[in-house]
Amino acid sequence: MTHLIELQKVFFQYKGNHALQNINLKIQEGDSIALIGPNGSGKSTLLKIINGIVFPDKGQVVFDGQEINAKTLSNTNFSKQFHKRVGFVFQNSDAQLFCPNVYEEIAFGPRQMQMEENEVNNRVSDCLKMLLIEHLKHREPYHLSEGEKRKVALAAVLSLNPEVLTLDEPMDGLDPRTKRFLKELLTQINKAGKTIICATHDFEYIQGLFKKVIVISEDHTVIREGNLEEIISDEPFLLKHNLK
Ligand SMILES: Nc1ncnc2c1ncn2[C@@H]1O[C@H](COP(=O)(O)OP(=O)(O)O)[C@@H](O)[C@H]1O
Ligand SMILES: [Mg+2]
Repeated sequence: MTHLIELQKVFFQYKGNHALQNINLKIQEGDSIALIGPNGSGKSTLLKIINGIVFPDKGQVVFDGQEINAKTLSNTNFSKQFHKRVGFVFQNSDAQLFCPNVYEEIAFGPRQMQMEENEVNNRVSDCLKMLLIEHLKHREPYHLSEGEKRKVALAAVLSLNPEVLTLDEPMDGLDPRTKRFLKELLTQINKAGKTIICATHDFEYIQGLFKKVIVISEDHTVIREGNLEEIISDEPFLLKHNLK
């Protein structure tokens, strides 16, 4: 079977600090995966590796049969196609929002891809509707609430209609209603066939959304992979690895 994303013996460190150690992963199209692990285990780094934001010191990242590294991404066409197919919602929305208003923010990606202005407009309208943020379209992203910013950041990624959606702690800092809304939306997006990979430690909200769990330990390596229900009902395992 071919896998959409494959990591082979990936190691990564930040100036001598280990962040990922010997990561081997196979992710299939349509998977919905919760990436869990204690603080500092390497979840954010793993998402950065999958998105080609940082590159492994050792090992390989393969997306749809093609290696993702500094060399392949230096090809503008390849890089554009890759970033269109794989979207990343950062943990900190402020790091992602830089346009003068919400409309421009959501239009940015499609414009970068040289889409016709008509198409850009349609995509922005669809995403504003999907996230229930039409009333915010003229607002300045910087001055929105945390929850509103998160929705705008997600809309800005969804406007490219990526096949893979990666999210870093998307429920962090959101109120219960916004969390429920986001959970429902991500469920729909996955049902529509998109692959979702989400770093999270919010157990309450991962049930019913993700089918698989990948657990990273304090040693920065994958210690368990499998069915969500099975893993989150294994109390001794969760306690032992500082996950509960
Ligand atoms: N920019 C950075 N510079 C140096 N060390 C970093 C940096 N980002 C993360 N680290 C370190 O790498 C390890 C993994 O971090 P991270 O991927 O952010 O973990 P998680 O998202 O699971 O909390 C941690 O030990 C962290 O301190
Ligand atoms: Mg993190």
